[in-house]
Amino acid sequence: MFKQYKEAIESSNIVSKTDINGIITFVNDEFCKISGYSREELIGQNHNIVRHPDVPASNFKRLWDTILNKKIFKSTVMNMAKDGSTFYVNTTIIPILDENGEIEEFIAIRYDVTKEVNLKMELERKEKELEALNRTLEKRVALQTRKLYELNRHLEERVREEVRKNEEKQKMLFWQSRFASLGQMMANIAHQWRQPLTELTLALFNIKRASLKRDDEQVEAIYEEAKSMIQNMSQTIEDFINFFRPDKPKEPFKIAKSLEESLQILQKSLEKEHIKIEVSVDDTLEAVGVSNELSQVVINLLQNAKDAFKDKDIADKKIELKLFEEDGFAKIVVADNAGGIEESVLERIFEPYFTTKHTAKGTGLGLFMSKMIVEKGLSGSIVAKNEGEGAMFVIKIPLVREGVDVV
Ligand SMILES: Nc1ncnc2c1ncn2[C@@H]1O[C@H](COP(=O)(O)OP(=O)(O)O)[C@@H](O)[C@H]1O
Ligand SMILES: [Mg+2]
Repeated sequence: MFKQYKEAIESSNIVSKTDINGIITFVNDEFCKISGYSREELIGQNHNIVRHPDVPASNFKRLWDTILNKKIFKSTVMNMAKDGSTFYVNTTIIPILDENGEIEEFIAIRYDVTKEVNLKMELERKEKELEALNRTLEKRVALQTRKLYELNRHLEERVREEVRKNEEKQKMLFWQSRFASLGQMMANIAHQWRQPLTELTLALFNIKRASLKRDDEQVEAIYEEAKSMIQNMSQTIEDFINFFRPDKPKEPFKIAKSLEESLQILQKSLEKEHIKIEVSVDDTLEAVGVSNELSQVVINLLQNAKDAFKDKDIADKKIELKLFEEDGFAKIVVADNAGGIEESVLERIFEPYFTTKHTAKGTGLGLFMSKMIVEKGLSGSIVAKNEGEGAMFVIKIPLVREGVDVV
């Protein structure tokens, strides 16, 4: 019975026996195999032949204290084989006592846990690595976050910068176009003044003649007439100055009045070109913005229509100017019969500097500025299309209802 146990234990475990001093008296085949020593090399040697130099002495002291106290020692022990390799064994050392209760010998039963220990150590190492990685990861994430944040700020700055540049450009364009229309306006004023100047010359001549004749009544009549002519001329200058006063506040205004002003400025030159202008306006409609700016838009459109008739042999040159209400919006339509806009450029006419005219005549800023004014200044929209025998521009702006306060 005992022999069978012995066999069972020995075949499945690493077994050794030592005397009370630790001198090896027995080893099984498994012990020889794992330690790399032959039985002959082991028997008679101190058991510390397999001791690993890295194991601290205190461990052995604890072992000996336990077994010399006749107690069973259990632990996982690191050993060294003959070839210097390390192996781990789960060790149980049992003190065998004689009939007097004295220690006769020690039996050590072990099983190999090298693989498990190595795996465990590997696992621990990996865990440490992972921990370290985690720590650096946190740092790296923080770093990346900061970098991203900085990039973001940088981008924001650049966007702001671009927006600012853009605004500057728009302002510049705005002034360029103002100056361009300034030239046009000058021409128009000169035109408007030509007739009253001629008439004034005539009036002067008549007043001289009347005074020579001592015809006081006639003098008085001519004087009044001349005065009103001069008043008219000075009004033209007044309008002109008002027109170019920048940064006027937005306020409700009568759209019809703004259209009249545009007509006033262009009427003479349209007449001169034999362009008939058909006007139909609803003069109750009001919008919010700067009245003169809308006048500038309409002047641009009328001027463009006028230009479109140039060098064209059209029998009854005609421009229609309409103002009416539709779906709560004011609609201003400027349509001509001058042949329309070339389809290939229709998409581009609102671009700044786009012109099909000779450089001395066109700046390409008129429609660009008009669109800016309509969209930014009047919160409206402007579109162009070809309709009938010519071009048609439609401006749509929100209406102000009477009695509604505008802040
Ligand atoms: N009524 C129109 N009929 C035909 N073409 C037009 C008309 N209005 C504008 N255009 C076209 O749109 C272009 C751009 O107009 P605009 O921005 O006012 O610049 P400019 O008048 O200085 O050329 C014009 O050059 C012309 O080709
Ligand atoms: Mg123009």
